Amino acid sequence: MCGIVAYVGDRDAQEVILKGLFRLEYRGYDSAGVALIDGGKISVRKKEGKLSGLAAMLAREPLKGHIGIGHTRWATHGEPDTPNSHPHTDCSGRIALVHNGIIENYLELRVALLEEGHRFSSQTDSEILAHLIEKYYAGDLLEAVRKAVSDAEGAYAIAVISERNPDEIVVARKSSPLVIGMGEGEYFVASDVPALLEYTNRVIYLNDNEIARLTRGGMSIYDLGMRRVEHTPSTIEWTLEQAEKGGYETFMLKEIYEQPDAFRNVLRGRILPGNNGVNLGMEKIAEETIRSMEKIFIVSCGTACYAGMGGRYLLEYHTDLSVEVDYSSEFRYRNPKLGRNTLVMTVTQSGETADTLASLRMAKEKGCPVVSIVNVVGSTIDRESDGVIHTYAGPEIGVASTKAYTAQLGALVLFTLYVGSVRGQMEEEEIRRVIAELCALPEKIERVLRVEAQVAAIARKYYRAKSAFYLGRGFNYPNALEGALKLKEISYLHAEGYPAGEMKHGPIALIDKEFLVVCLCTKGEKYDKMISSIREAEARGGRIVAIGTEGDRNLKDIAEDVIFVPETLEELSPIINVIPLQLFAYHIARLRGCDIDKPRNLAKSVTVE
Ligand code: G6P
Repeated sequence: MCGIVAYVGDRDAQEVILKGLFRLEYRGYDSAGVALIDGGKISVRKKEGKLSGLAAMLAREPLKGHIGIGHTRWATHGEPDTPNSHPHTDCSGRIALVHNGIIENYLELRVALLEEGHRFSSQTDSEILAHLIEKYYAGDLLEAVRKAVSDAEGAYAIAVISERNPDEIVVARKSSPLVIGMGEGEYFVASDVPALLEYTNRVIYLNDNEIARLTRGGMSIYDLGMRRVEHTPSTIEWTLEQAEKGGYETFMLKEIYEQPDAFRNVLRGRILPGNNGVNLGMEKIAEETIRSMEKIFIVSCGTACYAGMGGRYLLEYHTDLSVEVDYSSEFRYRNPKLGRNTLVMTVTQSGETADTLASLRMAKEKGCPVVSIVNVVGSTIDRESDGVIHTYAGPEIGVASTKAYTAQLGALVLFTLYVGSVRGQMEEEEIRRVIAELCALPEKIERVLRVEAQVAAIARKYYRAKSAFYLGRGFNYPNALEGALKLKEISYLHAEGYPAGEMKHGPIALIDKEFLVVCLCTKGEKYDKMISSIREAEARGGRIVAIGTEGDRNLKDIAEDVIFVPETLEELSPIINVIPLQLFAYHIARLRGCDIDKPRNLAKSVTVE
């Protein structure tokens, strides 16, 4: 997830673009750049690090001009350094482009372009597009862009300028957002509305597979078959602050709703044709290492640790490996038996958590290969791991982790499929079955999100509770821990997650008529056992809220409230089931008047021990 901005009109393009980028910093902040047509020539300024670094550079060496493009980056392919930051140019430097999205077939395209003599200055997937446009350019920029994007698979929102067409910007989109703001004799382009709201509230949202040419004199939009498309402008009524949160009242809620797309991103480009397997692109981890592995330690903190626990259930279910999970703060001070055949896996959103980093370093000192699941590309853990699976969830701003968790679970499913296939422990048919269901999850997550109003109503019944249990078994036990963590983090209501079967060994003594018991009881092998646990809690007067599979009538008789979710494979059900738990915690916190994006005493990234 990156932010793109472009401008054509009479204003100072540098100023408009830079201001717009600052408004989009929440979409990415590891490097930034701008390109303007200045005196008939394209000039590029770009810099790794925060946008303020680029702003300082532009203050020293300003660009002049009335047409340009800009970008604030959240790295996916290639480190967040200056060469990898956008804008990217073609070999001649006469075409410049900014891109948000992921080009899935970039390796293939890069090889072909190299053979044709193109030279690359970055490791990004995005630069491919600049060279493709160069290849197809024959005087008409729009036509060259159209041909280039037709070759690309994946997701893109791009803005392109060319010295030879100095009065126009060409933009195109597929599966990445792009909005065009309309002024008088001027156009603004951005990934998101906040970047242009200062200048105009009349916008059009480009649709997938549309391409547009913008000049001072007007705008023309086409589909990829070059048929003209007409759009009716919309009027944005949001304030700037509302717009930054996409109209949601908090970043956390926005991020909860970003989960279908975040999940699509984790799968993007990683599923082999015919659902025959996965490609994780971990060049530095030889298949032999995976084959000779005897044990895996999954090490992480907080929400990432519960994702790691979910990973243990997946790996143990599908492979013969023995898997241990630990909190990083414990693991680093234990004396775990580590060796060459032990793989250590860290799971981390930020890639900077101090205890997780220390655990990684300890594992490496002992000669273990380390694979990490990381959201922030270029973070320390990303750089120091032998193999990395990026989650591509985009920046997570709300302190309570939501989309990073479901993306981590997705990455762990992919890793399990990879290990199962390399070690010959998963049949092809089984792999295909899991992948098919994995690909159906984004749409199912969209369906689950529709329960928000019902969840909010249920939250109104319970928000004054003093304490809550979250119960789950098997694949959903880590989810019970995560659900309880969400509630305590943002609502300050005391909550504990428990394996349901353990409840009778002590915790059940707490249950009385006031006690809230949230039960993960979707269809699967442990369903009957969960029902027994619910009955035990109910018999003590506990107030039961159950998460159940659509169509399960039985649950309605036992639980006071049931939230139904779509059916999926039991091993994938945590990815669906956690969504109502996030929403439930959210609405309870809201009713309790808490500062949801900045809960007390918590930090987004814990870089000290
Ligand atoms: C902090 C955050 C949590 C997060 C944990 C681990 O406690 O508040 O949301 O799960 O750190 O962070 P990481 O960046 O390593 O996933």
